[in-house]
Amino acid sequence: MIKQAIIPLAGLGTRMLPLTSVLPKELLPINGKPNLEYILEECLNAGIKEFIFIISKNKYSIKKYFFNDSFYKKIIKKKKDKRIIQEYKKIKKYQKMIKFVYQNSPKGTGDAVLKCQKFIKSNFFLILLPDDLIINQNCSKEMIKLHKITKGSIIATKRVKRKTVSRWGILSLKNKKKNYFEIKDVVEKPNIKKAPSNFAIIGRYILTSKIFGEIKKLKPGQGKEIHITDAIKSLIQKNNKFYGNIFKGKYLDCGTLKGYIDSGAKINKGKK
Ligand code: G1P
Repeated sequence: MIKQAIIPLAGLGTRMLPLTSVLPKELLPINGKPNLEYILEECLNAGIKEFIFIISKNKYSIKKYFFNDSFYKKIIKKKKDKRIIQEYKKIKKYQKMIKFVYQNSPKGTGDAVLKCQKFIKSNFFLILLPDDLIINQNCSKEMIKLHKITKGSIIATKRVKRKTVSRWGILSLKNKKKNYFEIKDVVEKPNIKKAPSNFAIIGRYILTSKIFGEIKKLKPGQGKEIHITDAIKSLIQKNNKFYGNIFKGKYLDCGTLKGYIDSGAKINKGKK
């Protein structure tokens, strides 16, 4: 059973400057709702019961967004506004589910995830990168279903334009079925000549807890960071099963300013 989700939130957000000079990118609204709430809703609908947020001391406002009781209590006492009461109820529900872990220097996703080891209770858990929104179809739910069938680790994937492969982790595949395949290898941000396919890793992973042991052995890789991709590569080499879930939903890249601006328009369009 997949009941815990790790959400890395310690990134600097430089691709989103100037907006991120005052507000974490995960709290920037898309069609009136913070990016992060889309991620949490996806998890709730997929049966997740506990969130582990990886923040840094520069991202304290994320904690404040969810833990600001005295502020809400004061306002509600004064205004008795139904909408605010509803919002506060939702936040209270999240409060019970969130744990915080700190990563104060940005050393990569692998390093961030390793900091969560002490909280992980089962053999498999979910990771969601909030830069990557997937709408219209619940990707985490699809992945949990595939995990139940295969009993392996699962990575969300979609085909990207060949000329953009160096922006992503890229998968090499075997035994392709309609909606999924077995992963033979992964490469973090390869150049176009070295890319084994154009199936990119999109920010959702169901991983075995064996990943922690592999991360500990890693030396910094591409961009001098500790990449989760490299730990996955070692596990595949040791014959652990990994599958790519070709998700059905629509992908919105919220990690760049252009992608963020386009996302607002695309979410709206999806509703009409
Ligand atoms: C990270 C991963 C990469 C993956 C991407 C998806 O890269 O390292 O493998 O394809 O997320 O968004 P980042 O976006 O942090 O550069």
